Amino acid sequence: MGEVDPAFIQDPEHRPKPSIIEAEGIPVIDLSPINYNKDDTFSDPSAIEDLVKQIGSACKEWGFFQVINHGVPLDLRKRIENASRKFFAQTLEEKRKITRGEDSVAGYYDTEHTKNVRDWKEVFDFLAQEPTLIPVSSDEDDDEVTQWTNLSPENPPELRVVIQEYIEEVEKLSFKLMELIALSLGLEAKRFHGFFKDQTSFIRLNHYPPCPYPHLALGVGRHKDAGALTVLAQDEVGGLEVKRKTDQEWIRVKPTPNAYIINVGDIIQVWSNDAYESVEHRVMVNSEKDRLSIPFFFNPAHDSIVKPLEELTNEQNPSKYRPYNWGKFLIHRKDTNFKKKNVENLQI
Ligand code: SIN
Ligand code: FE2
Repeated sequence: MGEVDPAFIQDPEHRPKPSIIEAEGIPVIDLSPINYNKDDTFSDPSAIEDLVKQIGSACKEWGFFQVINHGVPLDLRKRIENASRKFFAQTLEEKRKITRGEDSVAGYYDTEHTKNVRDWKEVFDFLAQEPTLIPVSSDEDDDEVTQWTNLSPENPPELRVVIQEYIEEVEKLSFKLMELIALSLGLEAKRFHGFFKDQTSFIRLNHYPPCPYPHLALGVGRHKDAGALTVLAQDEVGGLEVKRKTDQEWIRVKPTPNAYIINVGDIIQVWSNDAYESVEHRVMVNSEKDRLSIPFFFNPAHDSIVKPLEELTNEQNPSKYRPYNWGKFLIHRKDTNFKKKNVENLQI
């Protein structure tokens, strides 16, 4: 214990700073106007209009915001957190029984690397849609698709059911958020819904154990999310840092009890032709406490062609991106990561 493993060490310029700015700046947005009132009537339209403005400014200025009164039952969140803690408390041998295979994204792993530095975390990924259709190869001319399926943890026995219930609720929230984002871009509320018909979304359980050298390592190195939208539950420990657009400073997201942290991924950046940008973030670890976080990655169907929406481009604002196939992109990224790890393993 306490020995520094070089695989985890960040280059000096990427190491976490001891005195970190804990920002009040990342907006906390109250979603009660879009949820039914107790008597099942809709809120007044001016409250919705105001909400849409808040979402639009948060997406533009931060790429990140928190939401409260979001409609996901608190009891369900507690259940998934408790079941996840029980899962990670098992022996490594037990957890590795459901190790993620080469041919899927679902399962357990503790050897993730971000930008070639190992992350101080262990993870369990679970697909929202089963099976998830995905191309076999990133080759543009190869049309063959395969099916990704989930691996089921034996323990705790309730975990699988709780995850499925939770995904249902967090997915509803994701659709509502996509409606608000669409409205904030001047689009029809349901403009994005079609992209998610055969979604490739998945949920991730992240466990960050205490780290003996938190000034050298990161729970997750700096990165942007490649998908459309991320809906993240973090516990009270905190550690998520977001790069502030105005001055490129790392800002800690202060945990707000029971809130969700929402961020725009690369796909929304492309759809919106840069009106909203995907923002870099990373996770600090600490030497005393475990941390649990549960992101839901809301991603479109494998055959979605991602490109700026026609309504958001014109002669003055031409398309900034060439169209790309989301499934092919995913596979390419997975292959590249896999190859990198194999090379690393050979070197050991
Ligand atoms: C991530 O961005 O991959 C994880 C975020 C978190 O744990 O807070
Ligand atoms: Fe992320």
